[in-house]
Amino acid sequence: MRKPNIAVLGATGVVGREILKILSEDKVPYNEIKFLASSKSAGKKTKFDGKDYTIIEATPEAFEGVNIVLASAGGSTSLKLAPEAVKRGAVYIDNSSAFRMDKDVPLVIAGVNDDDLKKHHGIIANPNCSTSQLMLVLKPLHDYAKIKRMVVSTYQAVSGAGLAAINELRQNTIAENEGKSFENVKFKKPIAYNVIPQIDVFCDNGYTKEEMKVTNETKKILHLDDDTRIACTAVRVPVFHGHSEAVNIEFEKEITPEKAREILENAWGVEVVDDIENYVYPTPRDAAGKNPVYVGRIRKDLVFDNGIALWCVADNIRIGAALNTVRLAEKVIEMQLF
Ligand SMILES: NC(=O)c1ccc[n+]([C@@H]2O[C@H](COP(=O)([O-])OP(=O)(O)OC[C@H]3O[C@@H](n4cnc5c(N)ncnc54)[C@H](OP(=O)(O)O)[C@@H]3O)[C@@H](O)[C@H]2O)c1
Repeated sequence: MRKPNIAVLGATGVVGREILKILSEDKVPYNEIKFLASSKSAGKKTKFDGKDYTIIEATPEAFEGVNIVLASAGGSTSLKLAPEAVKRGAVYIDNSSAFRMDKDVPLVIAGVNDDDLKKHHGIIANPNCSTSQLMLVLKPLHDYAKIKRMVVSTYQAVSGAGLAAINELRQNTIAENEGKSFENVKFKKPIAYNVIPQIDVFCDNGYTKEEMKVTNETKKILHLDDDTRIACTAVRVPVFHGHSEAVNIEFEKEITPEKAREILENAWGVEVVDDIENYVYPTPRDAAGKNPVYVGRIRKDLVFDNGIALWCVADNIRIGAALNTVRLAEKVIEMQLF
């Protein structure tokens, strides 16, 4: 099997650092590897697999000889650099939203719609974090009973907005505890001891871009009919790591909570944590640093026919970004799609 030359773009960021950890944990095969970031970080050192590497500025030429790029450097960087990398023969796996809804770009969750990878023309997109964790839960239920409609409410950790957002929660909380004033920059409202019902900008329909990502990306990944109705409310909460989601799903076919539980207990990448009599259900603290999507509170939905309500929690940096990026790279290597 051919081993690729790998470049990690955005290696100094929240997602990039986690990608480095998982590449090493999973022993992803490579021939050569390099780490790219902005000019600000060029020359700094990073450790990988016990060796020191120098961060290189992400110029177009930096992609010469690279076969697979694992990119988490934001949308504008990807819009500029993905075509440069692809022109030089690389497969560009992107964490930003820049190409996700492009019809020529597969949007893939490993283990859910792997076959879509075969249709790539150089760029492969990693879904938004709140969509990602949901897909591993929905796919096996959809295969059994077919999704008709769905309402999702998210409770999203600040790490989903990068390093600066993590620092803002920490500093805002300290200032609040010490009775000092604090100027929020990353969020529109103070995030300490608060919840903010806005993630990303508002669209014309009154929903935010983050909310519409859940609607549109879910349909693309699960190949749902265009008119499948999915609504989301996305909320930022003062949690460092781990997104939580309350999900209400209506299915075409009858499905009992017992059957849903059985399906999810056998689903790849999912762990059921659901024993309310003993107060057992997943929380973001349980999920931080872990790979599975945890599901609990599985019950009959009281609004929808053939409805199931559930609660799911996952590490947004892992399954929501870095882990799926690395899994996609592993699939590309396994399927020799580079
Ligand atoms: N955090 C999440 O849960 C999550 C989930 C899904 C997707 N994503 C996406 O992943 C991307 C990165 O997110 P993050 O949370 O890791 O952000 P972050 O912590 O702010 O890190 C951003 C990274 O991008 C690099 N970068 C910025 N501008 C660049 C440029 N012009 N050229 C090259 N590199 C540049 C930065 O390098 P310097 O350090 O040199 O500035 C840094 O390595 C974003 O597109 C985000 O939407 C994040």
